[in-house]
Amino acid sequence: MNNFWDQRYSEHPGVYGWEPNQFLVLVADKLAESSRIVCLGEGYGRNALWLAQRGHRVTMVDSSQVAIDQANKKARELGLRIETLCEDLETYRPPQCDAVIAIFVHLLPDLRRLVHERSWNALTNGGHFIMECFRKEQVQRNSGGPRNLDMLYSLVDLQSDFPFAEFIILNEETVKISEGQFHSGPAEVIRMLARKPI
Ligand SMILES: C[S@@+](CC[C@H](N)C(=O)[O-])C[C@H]1O[C@@H](n2cnc3c(N)ncnc32)[C@H](O)[C@@H]1O
Repeated sequence: MNNFWDQRYSEHPGVYGWEPNQFLVLVADKLAESSRIVCLGEGYGRNALWLAQRGHRVTMVDSSQVAIDQANKKARELGLRIETLCEDLETYRPPQCDAVIAIFVHLLPDLRRLVHERSWNALTNGGHFIMECFRKEQVQRNSGGPRNLDMLYSLVDLQSDFPFAEFIILNEETVKISEGQFHSGPAEVIRMLARKPI
């Protein structure tokens, strides 16, 4: 997998653009001021940097060293401080935090469950998990995402991964995405804003 992502980011720096994900923008006002936020599979940091610009304390993780280098470079250019970690989510253990963000992070089922469980345990009471992902129906589209059905998610997957969540938003949607050449056009997504009860 690393080779795939390193190659993509080397050949196409800033491949999904430098704007943050639109769903994240829609729900970001739910985050308390100066939240401690962990961004999983965050690529070159477009969402992490935007959150840092809004005053949050952000850690981002990705297994692609090329992406991490690009995130560090952009953070320096913008004069922003974020923690960047090059690590596989298989071994990564998120620290206690107020929010976890996962935007188009697609994992095989065993790893998906493990990462979601660890993230949930890391959240403080009242904390949020924000996710946009492609759902299984996206396999018929060519607007982005993995071609492996096992790496596309369903509502049932997420409901069972987060059994104690209060789902403020958990929607299957068809949206138009416009995030560079590999995320472009009508797309079948799930948008989730889950809250850990107090
Ligand atoms: C489609 S990109 C999305 C990047 C970012 N979240 C964004 O919205 O721009 C998926 C990212 O997940 C990362 N990723 C996939 N599997 C991973 C794993 N097991 N551990 C760490 N990162 C992973 C890839 O390196 C890639 O950067």
